[in-house]
Amino acid sequence: MINIPINDPIRQYRELHVEIDRVIREVNGSGRWLNGSWTRRIAEEIARWCGVAHCVPVANGTDALELALRSVGVELNNEVITVANAGGYATTACHLVGATPVWVDVRASTLGLDIERVGEALSERTKAIVVTHLYGIMVDVPALRAELDRRGATHVRIIEDCAHAHGATMRGRKAGALGDVAAFSFYPTKNLGALGDAGAVLTNDAEIADRTLRLHQYGWRERYNSIAAIGRNSRMDELQAAVLTVKLPHLEQWNAARRNVIERYVNELHPPFRVVSTCSQSDVAHLAVLRVPQRDQFRKRMAAAGIATDIHYPILDCNQVSQKMLPGRLLALPESERAVREIVSLPCFAELTADEVDRIIFAANRIAAELFA
Ligand SMILES: Cc1ncc(COP(=O)(O)O)c(C=O)c1O
Repeated sequence: MINIPINDPIRQYRELHVEIDRVIREVNGSGRWLNGSWTRRIAEEIARWCGVAHCVPVANGTDALELALRSVGVELNNEVITVANAGGYATTACHLVGATPVWVDVRASTLGLDIERVGEALSERTKAIVVTHLYGIMVDVPALRAELDRRGATHVRIIEDCAHAHGATMRGRKAGALGDVAAFSFYPTKNLGALGDAGAVLTNDAEIADRTLRLHQYGWRERYNSIAAIGRNSRMDELQAAVLTVKLPHLEQWNAARRNVIERYVNELHPPFRVVSTCSQSDVAHLAVLRVPQRDQFRKRMAAAGIATDIHYPILDCNQVSQKMLPGRLLALPESERAVREIVSLPCFAELTADEVDRIIFAANRIAAELFA
């Protein structure tokens, strides 16, 4: 029986239930469940918190990626450079707009996009790059911009996927404020999580913001007057906006707690474990990802010890069955292929107790000593 889960969002709800229940009652009683004051408020608060000019709340993080791609002008048959090990969300968004994903390899140390590989992936069709700050570890977006510019690809837009990186920073700026546009997911287990699906598109560019605003609601300029092609419905509802308003002020403290968990894994897990996630102040420790040989044996024994583990993510995008019928271009991915066989995630969330972390570390070290004796 599992008694330490990989994640446990109900603990956060219990901590804040008085305030969350209060705003939920308020929304319910308002009779205004979409496009109301809570959505406007969370848009302003997220934009201010991130240090960007515009935030468009949307229904989820995948929609945010799709809308971000459309809003920078990605369309049918364009190419979008991304990585194959980030869960498939960017790849899905590419297919939704009719673009071809081009997968480049990742750096062995961070498992994030390897900027040095991007040059080989550029083509005349390249329109954008989706950079995922995987596990909360920042990709150096200013360095990527410089590399693209150096290669004459000044027109290639950078989209940050910040689903794992709420509050991470680089050179004094937050994730989401570094590229042309950013997509956030507020899926319940994210560092800032709603009580259901929610997402947002963030940008400093007024035109991109304007296009996103139109496209997220049928292409409307105003009600029933559609001026932007291929609009759709992707609204964050008032309930989720209100819940996020309650939670946002706690994010820094939760990020600090997650970093403490990773710090303990970094300091106390013995070789052969190699911790990929970091506890650096600029990253945010979304997931606790390690590399370990004989990963499946390790996971089985952890489960027997009552400790949940997971794999983020187990199948590269290029190898998904759903991909077989769809366009995609592949560069050599040796690091991605190596990593996908070795990665394992341990529990990591702000409410994990010190006693639980003790038990996880003790079990992991004991199992490793038996497996690798
Ligand atoms: C890296 C990454 N990008 C995008 C998404 C998509 O977000 P959503 O589940 O809100 O659609 C997720 C996941 O849940 C994610 O982990």
